[in-house]
Amino acid sequence: MSISGVILAAGQGTRMKSPLPKVLQSVLGKPMINFAQEAIADFEKKYVIVGHQSDKVIQTLFESYIPIIQEKQLGTGHAISTLVESKEYEDDKNDYLVVIPGDVPLIKKKDLDLLINDVVSSKAVIGLISAEVNDPFGYGRIVRNQDEFEKIIEESDANEQEKQIKEINSGIYCIDKKFLKEYVGKIESENIQNEFYLTDLINIAFQNKLERVIVQVSEDSIQGVNSMSQLNDVENTLRKELIQTHMDNGVYFQDPNSTYLDKTVKIEAGAKILANCHLTGNTNIKKDCVIGPNSIINDSEIGEGSTIQFSVVDEAEIKSNGKIGPYAHLRKGSILDEDVKVGAFAETKNSTIGKGSKVPHLAYVGDAELEEDVNFSAGAITVNYDGKEKHKTEIKKNAFVGSDAMLVAPVTIGEGAMVGAGSVITKDVPPGALGIERNDQKNIDGYMERKNKKGKND
Ligand code: UD1
Ligand code: CA
Repeated sequence: MSISGVILAAGQGTRMKSPLPKVLQSVLGKPMINFAQEAIADFEKKYVIVGHQSDKVIQTLFESYIPIIQEKQLGTGHAISTLVESKEYEDDKNDYLVVIPGDVPLIKKKDLDLLINDVVSSKAVIGLISAEVNDPFGYGRIVRNQDEFEKIIEESDANEQEKQIKEINSGIYCIDKKFLKEYVGKIESENIQNEFYLTDLINIAFQNKLERVIVQVSEDSIQGVNSMSQLNDVENTLRKELIQTHMDNGVYFQDPNSTYLDKTVKIEAGAKILANCHLTGNTNIKKDCVIGPNSIINDSEIGEGSTIQFSVVDEAEIKSNGKIGPYAHLRKGSILDEDVKVGAFAETKNSTIGKGSKVPHLAYVGDAELEEDVNFSAGAITVNYDGKEKHKTEIKKNAFVGSDAMLVAPVTIGEGAMVGAGSVITKDVPPGALGIERNDQKNIDGYMERKNKKGKND
């Protein structure tokens, strides 16, 4: 027995009221359609019906998923007849076609397997997944006639009595391909929406006394996304599942409800994620890290034993035992070796910071290379930009950059050198030297006394 799969993804998703095609809305950091692609990944042949903004949708397809263009979206039945008539489908010799909508990211492979097994073992021509739901509004309802599965009625076509039915159609089907070929052309568009409904195949099978089956699953695995609030529901469900999986693997979460993470994020056992963290993209958090509270980490490598508090880390890399924050900003290309501290109100960008170096507070390090054990004091900054171009600052090991120093790049501070506080450094400082650029301090004796006297006479 062999299976082909098809994802329905041609519609715009008008009810979302968003310029982005529905199947491209982000769910846990991935386009929604990726979930459907994963669900049918094991099938022999895989198609995706595209139409609305098809170029964009096609870009998100994994390799070996064949796009089928449905120029006008005349309904789910029309979408499938477009497939059946396409030349890509001509030499498809598989026995069954599994149809899934692109807007049901909660779908589970195990439920598809249940459906396929049921269809095959009962020799049915069509089977679908249903669920009992609290609020069936918007879904097609399962209509049974004395225990016989007679038809599906859409919300817009349903009468008051039918609207009360709580068993709904998930839009997920397994269809015998011979039956499909014979009957898909017989679907008509006589309904309120003037659309060709794929669901009419049920009634066609019923009329022809052909076997139909229903596999009921829980509401949680089939919820569709038709509105922004359903997108939020579905994402929350998936997020809970994802965090549960991380917890099962030994990651501590202080407050799962306030933790947002993408599916792509990797976290090692023994890491702790405190409240209010957003972990996104290709972020990799190693063991014994404590992340948060209140941190955002995107596309970054966080090495073993690092702590990150109230900070933003984007496209950065921390080797191990980094101490970041509170209130630090590690920007793109910040590469921190072992035991580096970047503390309160410090920002780094496109810079390497050597082992044991410290940027403890109120500093900017951009386009710089700091070797080991450098101290970059409060208020010091690299002046990396001259209004036209960016320039590099090099600070050799054991150098000490005093508070409020401006290092006007390109410039090099030699090994073990010191930069005096408040200096504007425009020339290299040789190893072991003190670079200082300040006017001599003047002390004016008796100044305050004279000032105060003057004040009283006025
Ligand atoms: C459909 C089902 C309904 C079911 C619900 C489950 C029909 C007639 N109704 O309704 O019984 O309860 O799904 O979520 O099938 N699409 C195309 N081409 C088209 C029309 C739609 O590819 O011409 C795609 C859409 O992009 C979407 C999917 O098919 O991914 C479902 O279409 P949608 O309009 O959302 O159908 P529902 O009204 O939700
Ligand atoms: Ca839908």
